[in-house]
Amino acid sequence: MTQMLWWQTGVIYQIYPRSFKDTTGNGIGDLSGVIEKLDYLSDTLGVDAIWLSPFYPSPMADFGYDVANYVDVHPMFGDLQTFDELVLQAHRRNLKVIIDLVPNHTSDQHRWFVESRASRENPKRDWYVWRDARPDGSPPNNWLSVFGGSAWEWDQATQQYYQHSFLKEQPDLNWRNPQVKEAMFDVVRFWLERGVDGFRIDVAHYIMKDPDLRDNPPNKAHEAQIHKSLGAYDSQIHLYDKGHPDAHQVYHEFRQLLDEYSHDQPRFSIGEVHIFDWPVWASYYGKNLDEIHMPFNFTLLGVKWQARVVRSLVDRLEAVLPAGAWPNYVLGNHDEPRFASHLGMEASRTAAMLLLTLRGTPTLYYGDEIGMTDVSIPVEKRQDPWGKRVPGLGRDPQRTPMQWTSGLNAGFSTADPQALWLPLSPDYQRVNVAVELNDPRSMLNLYCSLLTYRRSHLSLQTGAYQPLDKMPEDVFAYVRRAQGFPGILVVLNFASAAVEAQLPGEWVGRLVLSTHMDRGGEIDLQRLNLRAFEGLLIELDA
Ligand code: GLC
Repeated sequence: MTQMLWWQTGVIYQIYPRSFKDTTGNGIGDLSGVIEKLDYLSDTLGVDAIWLSPFYPSPMADFGYDVANYVDVHPMFGDLQTFDELVLQAHRRNLKVIIDLVPNHTSDQHRWFVESRASRENPKRDWYVWRDARPDGSPPNNWLSVFGGSAWEWDQATQQYYQHSFLKEQPDLNWRNPQVKEAMFDVVRFWLERGVDGFRIDVAHYIMKDPDLRDNPPNKAHEAQIHKSLGAYDSQIHLYDKGHPDAHQVYHEFRQLLDEYSHDQPRFSIGEVHIFDWPVWASYYGKNLDEIHMPFNFTLLGVKWQARVVRSLVDRLEAVLPAGAWPNYVLGNHDEPRFASHLGMEASRTAAMLLLTLRGTPTLYYGDEIGMTDVSIPVEKRQDPWGKRVPGLGRDPQRTPMQWTSGLNAGFSTADPQALWLPLSPDYQRVNVAVELNDPRSMLNLYCSLLTYRRSHLSLQTGAYQPLDKMPEDVFAYVRRAQGFPGILVVLNFASAAVEAQLPGEWVGRLVLSTHMDRGGEIDLQRLNLRAFEGLLIELDA
């Protein structure tokens, strides 16, 4: 077997820096706050890598996904020295550092765009997508912004439209201009040289569009094209405004760049690729696994939480992966409602066991490990531009401050509670790291146990996945086994009723962990009783 790398055996933890830990008392998290919590991440929880959402200088129109300078740190978050210290301290603890790369668009305040918009003759004009109006003054085509309205903004001064897939404050770069690629690759080099281990690529499949800018066809039935409805954006089939295959050449070259830096430190990339056509999605691994190391697999998000449905997604993924490609799973991120809210607390424990025992790299979203839920944000405190433009699609509820203690501001910040950038969850005195560490059956201790076990068992990190047939309708069961190691059986009851499962007659095993955290040891596999929403982790005898 070829040796597995850290991004295959490890677990990634996503930090939304604004919301993790504030050390300056301004109500907004910062990089020093991340440093302060590294011991929690590496020792208490036991993850292997952190992914930091953007911390770059930005006017924060989209909370940092509108980057005004790719090679610096927003003063609110710290400075480059703080970042270097973070990398140093993370690496001392054997934690890898993944940063967010936002290649599709910049901020309209980025100097590249400021130059580009200065005049039609500016050398950087073609770094963005500028077009004349149609004869009637309307935008060049029918493309829509994900965040609502047209994807074109009129520039009065130079009498042309520029294209933006997201906010008008986030103009799209023109990746068909080789200078853009070179400039972005320089950004990548800058961070690789500072020691980062990898990149999460923001909307990776958006960078290349139809060169002829053809109109998108209508989506008559208005059905959602990813795992959730996006409002008016779903009125079109997004055939031409993203996902052009020319992106593959870019990611091929990007991968070569990462590989050049991988000799003593394996570098990695994971792309945000929301494509639900499996083969097209899988194409982002590259024909010879020579593009993005992994496109994020979002299929579990918002899925109908039934054993049958979830199993079929996992089986499907295993079937479409190109030979040698490594799978991955996520249950949440800063764009998605928290799964503890839509599944409920009991089922989300089973979900945690699923996420941490499937074959592939799990990515955890900060706070999910303590069971944080979506927080309803009063209108006057709402921040997310998407939610302000398209009611119902706001992402503030899943971005509230991390809950560390039962004290002031849940230990997130020393600011006046009114000054927190988003309000705390009202449940913070019950749901927080300190309280949960003292409760042997807490969600946090479940995560810690799962992570500890996973870390010390190669079968879970790298072993094959074998689903079991003939299980009761609400049960999803599978065995993970690495060659020469004991098999690990995972049995998950998705239902709110108890159920009995029968495993093959000759199987013998020991219960390592129940999601209820109240039993272990000898267990009868031929009459395996599972309580409502119970998940069991069982070590099989050879
Ligand atoms: C990605 C990010 C999201 C951001 C958008 C535009 O989907 O995850 O938070 O708003 O890209 O950059």
